[in-house]
Amino acid sequence: MPLQDSYELPAAADMHVHLRNAPGPIAELVTPTIRKAGVDTVFVMPNLAPKPVVSVAEALEYKAHLQALDPSVTYLMSLYLHSSITPDEIRAAKTAGIAGVKAYPRGATTNSQWGVVSFDPFHDVLKAMEEEGIVLNLHGEVPSNPTEGVTVMNAESRFLPTLRNLVEKYPRLKIVLEHCTTADAVETVRSFGENVVGTITAHHLSLLVDDWSANVNNYCKPSAKSPEDRRALLNAAVHSNGKFFLGTDSAPHDISAKKGKGNTAAGVFTQPYALGYVLTALEEAIARGDLASEKEVTEAALSGFFSTYGRAFYAIPQSIKKIRLTRGGQVVADSLKSDGAEIVPFRAGETTWGVEWLS
Ligand code: NCD
Ligand code: ZN
Repeated sequence: MPLQDSYELPAAADMHVHLRNAPGPIAELVTPTIRKAGVDTVFVMPNLAPKPVVSVAEALEYKAHLQALDPSVTYLMSLYLHSSITPDEIRAAKTAGIAGVKAYPRGATTNSQWGVVSFDPFHDVLKAMEEEGIVLNLHGEVPSNPTEGVTVMNAESRFLPTLRNLVEKYPRLKIVLEHCTTADAVETVRSFGENVVGTITAHHLSLLVDDWSANVNNYCKPSAKSPEDRRALLNAAVHSNGKFFLGTDSAPHDISAKKGKGNTAAGVFTQPYALGYVLTALEEAIARGDLASEKEVTEAALSGFFSTYGRAFYAIPQSIKKIRLTRGGQVVADSLKSDGAEIVPFRAGETTWGVEWLS
């Protein structure tokens, strides 16, 4: 049996997005697509180029530019964990309403060259975050290292001991293991208390390693992995109980960075169609037998994964707005294009679920 033909749900919150520099051509193209996806709240990543967001002042300036692009969206802002951040800056971040600090292991992904080599020098900052309730958002991969046998396929599993150390050392710190891609990560996140959760993207609910090795538009960090890993993510999404929620990691790159000379940029662009992709992936999972039946996909599970669990974790109000998702209601564009940028979305040209705003 397929899913219902439509669902009425609270407006969604996407707790991991890349909107790029604002003002700037990519931000101008993608920020207006947030609401198109049925999303009214986003957690915005700080890995801007040429310079990441490392201070409260920069985060607030960035937020103002995003608000100018779409004032109807709530932007939760973040800082990039960097040696220039002090415990006082963390306290100022709390006062300014900044929600989290993102840690990028140096060299693990796009714009991570200013990232962390070891968490030890950040002890006082992490203590201040624990005290203030500022979330630590982890890109949970170690950089590839052939000598040590690390490739994109085991980079996340190899990071999990670092997560365990952080939880042990800072037991009250709120931590999000971002974009979980492995059964190992799901199991590890489940083993901790309620201050440790995971986000799951839309694309990792459908992709496998074979899909990105054949198509640059499916390539991202962390990369999609095995059928067993995908099954674990699908089950975590529908049986989350607050432990896992949507963070799309929508990561737009101009077509020239995806298909130009040299290495392709890591990042899958899902922003405008994210909820539809999730429902499409869940239906495919039921058809394959990765989910036992459509009964596992309850309205409560969808509301939680898309909206209520993420807001509860970040201690922000629930949305009173409603959306309707309808099967077959949307054809994914071949690309989004302006004078300054062209971005190819995930599953370009395919049909997915459409979104209407009811209030
Ligand atoms: C992200 C980007 O492009 O900024 N890329 C990605 O593959 N996910 C960075 C990140 O979140 O790792
Ligand atoms: Zn990301």
